[in-house]
Amino acid sequence: MRVSTAFGLDIGGTGIKGGVVDLASGELVSERVRLDTPQPATVAAVLDTAAAVVAQTGWSGPIGCAFPGVVKDGVVGSSANIDDEWLGEHLERHLAARLNAPVRSLNDADAAGLAEMRLGAGVERDGVVMMLTLGTGIGSALFVDGRLVPNTELGHLEIDGAVAESRASAAAREREGLSYEEWAVRLQRYFSHVEQLFSPDLFIVGGGISRKADRFLPLISVRADLVPARLRQNSGIVGAALRSME
Ligand code: BGC
Repeated sequence: MRVSTAFGLDIGGTGIKGGVVDLASGELVSERVRLDTPQPATVAAVLDTAAAVVAQTGWSGPIGCAFPGVVKDGVVGSSANIDDEWLGEHLERHLAARLNAPVRSLNDADAAGLAEMRLGAGVERDGVVMMLTLGTGIGSALFVDGRLVPNTELGHLEIDGAVAESRASAAAREREGLSYEEWAVRLQRYFSHVEQLFSPDLFIVGGGISRKADRFLPLISVRADLVPARLRQNSGIVGAALRSME
């Protein structure tokens, strides 16, 4: 049987990751390549790094790209964790020209959510599912009976006078040297607020830090089910690859 594969590229605020994904299982069938996101993360610099990530695997073929901002019809609509130069740029066209391949794109949290709903912690979960990714920022992906409501941007909710991700992201924990217990207090405030607004049936928690889920998820109390992402730090790559086929 021929394995159907595609390349997933996950552009993040601190790292640009990628790999060849088996679309049936969500497993990576190449090495997982990660290069630092160039600073400043201008259009030209990010395209260079993205090209280097793809080249390291020797891939040629369809590519899906997850991006850390609003992406509508391939065009970037926000730039909290990437250079402002990206605003209004046609991400898909830039990448397609640079990588010489068909490219589809979407928001990074939406990509992670898509992967979890198809192949991970959200399989066969109807109702309202909220994926939250804790990384450089906080990303959100909302699913209603399995259908994505894209670009929800709930990391930018204002809570107690501050943008939520500035206090409760994984980067904020590191920046301020918070213990998991101290960070969990902030996460609790955030999760309770989101729960009050959306009453999800399930929260899936992703981002690199989800590898350490046992250190902080048990400290958070919500009415909904609360589980770590199953594809862990590969959710974004896998979701991007799935997107390339849509
Ligand atoms: C961005 C989101 C993104 C999240 C995680 C936020 O700052 O606004 O679009 O999903 O960071 O990268």
